[in-house]
Amino acid sequence: MRVTGTPLTVSGTIRAPGDKSISHRALIFAAMASGATRIRGILPSADVRATAGALRAMGARIPALSDDFVVHGQGVQSLHSPEATLDCANSGTTARLLAGLVAGLAGRSARFEGDASLSRRPMRRVADPLSAMGAHVTFMGAAGHDGLPMQVDGAALHGIRYVNAQASAQVKSALLLAGLTSGVAVTIDEPLRSRDHSERMLLARGVALAITSEGVTLPAGQVVQPADVIVPSDPSSAAFFVALAALADAGQLRLENVCLNPTRTGAFDVLQRMGAVLHVEDECDVGGERIGTLVVHPSTLRGTHISGAEIPRCIDELPMIACLAACAEGETRIADAQELRVKESDRIRGVVENLRALGAEIEELPDGMRIVGSRTPLAGHVVTHGDHRLAMAFGVLGALPGNQITIDDPGCVAVSYPTFWRDLSQSVGPVAPSMASAPASVAPSITGSSPLVIAIDGPAASGKSSTAQWVAKLLDVRHVDSGAFYRAITFLAVESGEVPESWTAASVLAHSGRVAWRLTERSVLPLVDGQDQDEALRGAAVTRHVSRVAAMAPVRAWVNEQVRSAGAAVDVVVDGRDIGTAVFPTAQLKVFLVADSWERARRRLLQRLGRRPTEAEIATETEALVARDAQDATQSAPAHDAVTIDTTTVTQEEQVERIVALARATRQRLGR
Ligand code: S3P
Repeated sequence: MRVTGTPLTVSGTIRAPGDKSISHRALIFAAMASGATRIRGILPSADVRATAGALRAMGARIPALSDDFVVHGQGVQSLHSPEATLDCANSGTTARLLAGLVAGLAGRSARFEGDASLSRRPMRRVADPLSAMGAHVTFMGAAGHDGLPMQVDGAALHGIRYVNAQASAQVKSALLLAGLTSGVAVTIDEPLRSRDHSERMLLARGVALAITSEGVTLPAGQVVQPADVIVPSDPSSAAFFVALAALADAGQLRLENVCLNPTRTGAFDVLQRMGAVLHVEDECDVGGERIGTLVVHPSTLRGTHISGAEIPRCIDELPMIACLAACAEGETRIADAQELRVKESDRIRGVVENLRALGAEIEELPDGMRIVGSRTPLAGHVVTHGDHRLAMAFGVLGALPGNQITIDDPGCVAVSYPTFWRDLSQSVGPVAPSMASAPASVAPSITGSSPLVIAIDGPAASGKSSTAQWVAKLLDVRHVDSGAFYRAITFLAVESGEVPESWTAASVLAHSGRVAWRLTERSVLPLVDGQDQDEALRGAAVTRHVSRVAAMAPVRAWVNEQVRSAGAAVDVVVDGRDIGTAVFPTAQLKVFLVADSWERARRRLLQRLGRRPTEAEIATETEALVARDAQDATQSAPAHDAVTIDTTTVTQEEQVERIVALARATRQRLGR
């Protein structure tokens, strides 16, 4: 148990989102089969959306990702070459698995690209064996760069026997997919076992795999049958909360529906060896995977050694384990983990540099690290390099009272765990008073308390957005403009060249993997392909089509999720429809602005025309507003606990002052 700062109490039950590996595979196998596959509980993250988008581009009929949907597969031979480059965003699984799929489809080609992080990751590990099977794989980047962009030209392949030296499940799965699409035999020897979701899912789909202690053999001529999937929670996501509960001082956390596949549970074994008190309840089998509820208690943690066959079983959790080790008693040594250097970032370097910057004692090793635990509070700024697992691992450390940790890019969690910050703030229990005076900073200070959310709602032209911006400035917190997210996704839909009349929620959301957000000093800024596109987002084409996109319920759900994840990471003022009801029902302060429709019309025209409008102009605008109010009526009822402010007869300055006063009172009430 840590002894720094105010005690940390954890409580509640968390259902971490769906397993990322299984989610990718569920989509791929559904697209390959002939017939209907029902998928429940898929992880709706940016990585999985990248796979969905790529499969759609090859002709697969994959609807918008939701908690329960059906893919009507047309058989693997129905997949065609995509017209455009496949954008794999940040997702190595998308690029490597789909490279295998395309490689075995004679006459079909695809070009793969990704973001800066994915473009740095090694692709020769799939290119070499796929080429040895007869596919043509060409690296399209600078000379000597064996990563994305990469072109795969499919062919009628021949079989292969391959030693999976890096214990990579992505390589293994790519070769199995190539063997399946070309109908040839593939044997993969695994000196160290990598995760086996592909094998389990293929067996459940009628594929006659032979699995031995040496590896796996796919016989020639196998066909993937459709089979429904219920995706269990991702153990790699649950691990952050197992660590949090183990580091806490009181309470317990329950993590339900966690995938307990033995190739994935290395982190739980390591944590138990370190002294974590955890047990499993309600174990059962679902779709060929063992699942259960993990119950974790505060624990006294000590250092350990992790190496060899255990590494692939906890590879994605090593950043979290290293952070935990910095708070444990004694030394922890991680060896044989050189694979960490080619993940979304060099995770050995990233963990070592960040932990050292926070004040921990840590040494970088070529294939791992050595950490000496301590009870000294950790303080400083974490640079995530856009790596989701670093953001979450340090987010857990930041939630411990006594630590003062800021994180540069909390939004990067969207690739695997979009609701991470919300779950974190909900699980750390009541506000810890010692955190009340955490210094304001450009980056978020992840503290033991839920961030302050001020939700401003009201009918059209009630001045929500300008008021919210002004309030945020005076309170020195960030403003979230949900409209900017609608604009970002609309911009990408416009850019795709598809005619707006044919847009569907699925076709629009296929681009969502390219939208992320970043904190600036004043706002939560949506990024498109990692860039601030503010000017383009305000362009005429976006303005013309944004309301079409905003009317799509799945798009609204996606925007709400973005806004929520920002509001779970930092204090925010946020305005928009349903903000206090659907998006932030637990916002600590909700304001509902109302004004007489004539007055709203007058203000809107004043702003639009830049002069005093005539009575006739106001009358016409009022009519339009009243009609719009009627349309919006169901959406824009105030939350039952909202403070309604009638702004008809007050200036904007006065209404801003009222809200700021309410916010200060709220802060005081919460002890901040
Ligand atoms: C994955 C395999 C692992 C893992 C990654 C997901 C998969 O990578 O780190 O997050 O779904 O197959 P490698 O196969 O590169 O080890």
